[in-house]
Amino acid sequence: MTMRDQILGLPGQLRWAAGQAQPSVSAPAALLTGMGGSAMACDVASLTAVHYPVPVHRGYGLPPWAKDGLVVAVSYSGNTEETLSSVEAAMVRGLTVAVVASGGRLVDLAADNGWPHVAVPAGLQPRAALGYLAGGALRVIEGAGLIPSQVEELEEAATVVESLLTGGEAWKQAETIADRLDGKVAVIYGGSGPSAVAARRWKTQINENAKRPAFWSELPELDHNEIMGWSQSGEKVRPYAVVLLRDPADHPRVRLRMELTRELIAPRITVAGEVRAFGNGLLARLFSLIVVGDALSLTLAERAGIDPVPVATIEELKLRLQEA
Ligand code: PA5
Repeated sequence: MTMRDQILGLPGQLRWAAGQAQPSVSAPAALLTGMGGSAMACDVASLTAVHYPVPVHRGYGLPPWAKDGLVVAVSYSGNTEETLSSVEAAMVRGLTVAVVASGGRLVDLAADNGWPHVAVPAGLQPRAALGYLAGGALRVIEGAGLIPSQVEELEEAATVVESLLTGGEAWKQAETIADRLDGKVAVIYGGSGPSAVAARRWKTQINENAKRPAFWSELPELDHNEIMGWSQSGEKVRPYAVVLLRDPADHPRVRLRMELTRELIAPRITVAGEVRAFGNGLLARLFSLIVVGDALSLTLAERAGIDPVPVATIEELKLRLQEA
């Protein structure tokens, strides 16, 4: 399937997740673990926590404080070594495990141990399965009673993303930003919360689909350090261009900081654009930003004549690790 078709599939994935049965898990707390595209799904799920924190772990093993509750292992392939190592650590510590995966070792382990498991459809690139993976993770922590039902939020997100894709707005914004990014490295800024998760997603999509370097950062933190990086006198810092992701629900002082930060950096660095979140619910606002970044990464790839689908270096690295 082409990457364009995979991106166009996002609203359907969110609706699929809304229609899944809620797995039943009893747990006083949860931690989400995954890497890369699957970790992004963990970030999405973690944002919805309102009663208790649901942190995200990216890496081997588990943090020392993860001593009780649920470990939700999210891996599209089901074979990612860091995520399997987290599951192993969870088993050693006697923690409850739930799995969101399309296959692989994780699904086998879930079947052998009777763990709750959301089986997401196979055949996509992990990063293009974000709606399935995030939706699956959400339904699991919802089933554990750690967050309120996300069904309406997922449905609203699907509607908003669909209208941005089919109405053409996402592609139009992507074209404009791609023009301004020409020959430059994208630096994506979000406010803390959904727009920061979206900024990270933009960065990783530009890396993997367009095969270009990109960086992200979040307010208010970047106002305490990174802003100085653009403060040199003289000509604009030519190789970089900033994109600002704005969420109307950001803290009012963060919204003000976005304005002031833009004013201060604009004389020194190209501001390639500002993208505003749409929708009421957190997931709608988040995915309304994500979909423009997805469209941008595809636009950049197509303009450069690059196939956005394969990630040969990631595969090569995984192979070398297996052989080592
Ligand atoms: O986009 C990708 O292919 C990667 O970022 C993968 O998501 C990452 O390597 C982890 O693999 P998986 O999602 O199968 O656990």
